[in-house]
Amino acid sequence: MTQPEHKIRQLRDFLDDCNYKYYVLARPDVSDYEYDMKMRELQDLEAQYPEYDDPDSPSHRVGSDVNQEFQQVEHRYPMLSLANTYSEGELRDFDARIRKLLPEGEEFQYSCELKFDGTSISLTYHDGRLVRALTRGDGQKGDDVTQNVRTIKSIPLRLNGSGYPDDFEIRGEILMPHDSFQRLNAERLEIGEQPLANCRNAAAGALKTQNSAAVAKRGLDCYLYYLLMDTLPTDSHTDNLALAKSWGFKVSDNTKLARNIDEVWDFINYWDNEREKLPYDIDGIVLKVDSMTQRDRLGFTAKTPRWAIAYKFKAEEAAAKLLSIDYQVGRTGIVTPVANLTPVHLAGTIVKRATLNNADFIQNLGLHTGDTVYIEKGGEIIPKITRVDETLREPGATPIKYIDKCPVCGATLVRNDGEAGYYCPNYENCPPQIMGKVIHFVTRKAMDINCGEATIEQLYNAHLVNDIADLYSLKASDIEPLERQGRKSAENLVQSIEKSKQVPFDRVLYALGIRYVGEGAARVLARKFRDIDALASASTDALAATNEIGETIAATVFEWMHNEVNIRLIQRLKEAGLQFVLDVADDDAPKSDRLAGKNIIVTGSFATPQRRAELEKMVEDNDGKLQSGVNAKTTFVVAGAKPGASKVQKAEKLGIKIITEEEFLAMMEKE
Ligand code: IVH
Repeated sequence: MTQPEHKIRQLRDFLDDCNYKYYVLARPDVSDYEYDMKMRELQDLEAQYPEYDDPDSPSHRVGSDVNQEFQQVEHRYPMLSLANTYSEGELRDFDARIRKLLPEGEEFQYSCELKFDGTSISLTYHDGRLVRALTRGDGQKGDDVTQNVRTIKSIPLRLNGSGYPDDFEIRGEILMPHDSFQRLNAERLEIGEQPLANCRNAAAGALKTQNSAAVAKRGLDCYLYYLLMDTLPTDSHTDNLALAKSWGFKVSDNTKLARNIDEVWDFINYWDNEREKLPYDIDGIVLKVDSMTQRDRLGFTAKTPRWAIAYKFKAEEAAAKLLSIDYQVGRTGIVTPVANLTPVHLAGTIVKRATLNNADFIQNLGLHTGDTVYIEKGGEIIPKITRVDETLREPGATPIKYIDKCPVCGATLVRNDGEAGYYCPNYENCPPQIMGKVIHFVTRKAMDINCGEATIEQLYNAHLVNDIADLYSLKASDIEPLERQGRKSAENLVQSIEKSKQVPFDRVLYALGIRYVGEGAARVLARKFRDIDALASASTDALAATNEIGETIAATVFEWMHNEVNIRLIQRLKEAGLQFVLDVADDDAPKSDRLAGKNIIVTGSFATPQRRAELEKMVEDNDGKLQSGVNAKTTFVVAGAKPGASKVQKAEKLGIKIITEEEFLAMMEKE
């Protein structure tokens, strides 16, 4: 083995071990700094010696930006679901049935486990390497989400030691822990999108994202609970999972072997109380007969095993009376109705408010004034109203009529086709929108101006700041006379505003608060167009031809850039001296625009896997847009050996050119 290869292997082993300790054992033993340094060293060596590339390298866990399509693949063992119940009586019936089906008097044990509330996954390992990850799908066939799953760091790509079987499947649940969920929703709110309802939807949605680099950022986790192979290592499910744990899988410790149903019931009661303290959602417990021999004897019904059942917790629910509805107006003008309720205890807190989402939600509930409603708290941050008790409706109650005017500025609300939410279109003068935009503008990830919400409100009320550009004409002497301000704080603020003039263009673009333009989108747009004038004069097609930028963002950016008010705003910000040009020589920016406006597909296999990545990079370097599927907008398809059959067929049907690698290279030279 050459020296660089040896070093590369050593670094990979080291980083795999760090990931294992951090994500599986939750016991990190190196600092973030050391980890980052070793990762950088590995990336540098891998770039220098591409011949030692390995798809399992920890450096690849960041995913890829190239959109993918999911192939449907047959499950080797069907992926069944579980019978479930909410009642103790039915649970005891289940136990009685098992005792009847097993030989009289035979002892057995239940493995009691948490029922993780995420999305199920089946992983296949060959020779200690992860080769495939499938979703449940219809139970017979699932979606191949291997690329996405490879970015989840608690899932081992290579197993520990050498005691694992050559070929097996292991199943479990992919979930989004509460902290990842809260971060995701905060990001969504920041770009003017509705928050996701719960951790389960968020996990399932993330897993089906086409872009694996986006999945890598979602902070997903995975617990494994079911080993499958023709001959299992031991007859005990619990022992098999303990082995799986020693190979590197994350297996929960919150389990118990119960000798009878009363012990199971204790476990259920314990977790019904304690589940609030877990960092992720569970929606019940699962009990499974532990012995494989006994499982074989019990067998399956058409849909579910006879040897297991899920006991589901009732979501905690409380009744409250509707007092009134507040309509909140966000930075992008979106209106969110919130119910004010009589205070009630729910899952350890006192609840006084619940979200009503949007006008459709209120209508579907059939909500009337003074109604008694039921509220539930799951993994959601804000409790939600699940139903109305119509029997308690008061005489004379009237259906809730959604507002048609902005509650703050009085403008007539509008609703875009296909959207559930109403907007206040008075972007320029509606106070919460103005203040919301300034609040977003000053945040750390945007202009990083040291100014709290209360100060922004003061500045607005004193007519000093009516839009973000006004910040740049503030003088310390304007601020100083305001309540709770003084010489020092006024000077600090002015200084901090001054300093923000150095913030790079991509962050300025993000700070403008254009709907859907989060940090990522702002970065790619800034890198592609390089200055605000080029961006402002780009057509929607040119915008949409940018990697990662879809049609919605393209249309929104185009509209924003052509709005009179925004044009004037940009002019004033330019005069104030903000950065509207990308000044760093940015490696990721396209180096030529030879393929600008062209939508290109690279499919099939080439001489080496790296070759395909090189071709894709060539497309990006020349400003082309890589597509994952053929459509009417595809310019041409570069096909290697064994190209995707559906892509070729569709291209032929649409009369789209299919060219070879050589033809593509010749074309690049000519252009
Ligand atoms: S065992 C043949 N164990 O709940 C049954 N499932 O409602 C194999 N789930 O499809 C499943 N935690 O997605 C099992 N500890 C656990 C579980 C669990 C969550 C999910 C899983 C399953 C669904 C059934």
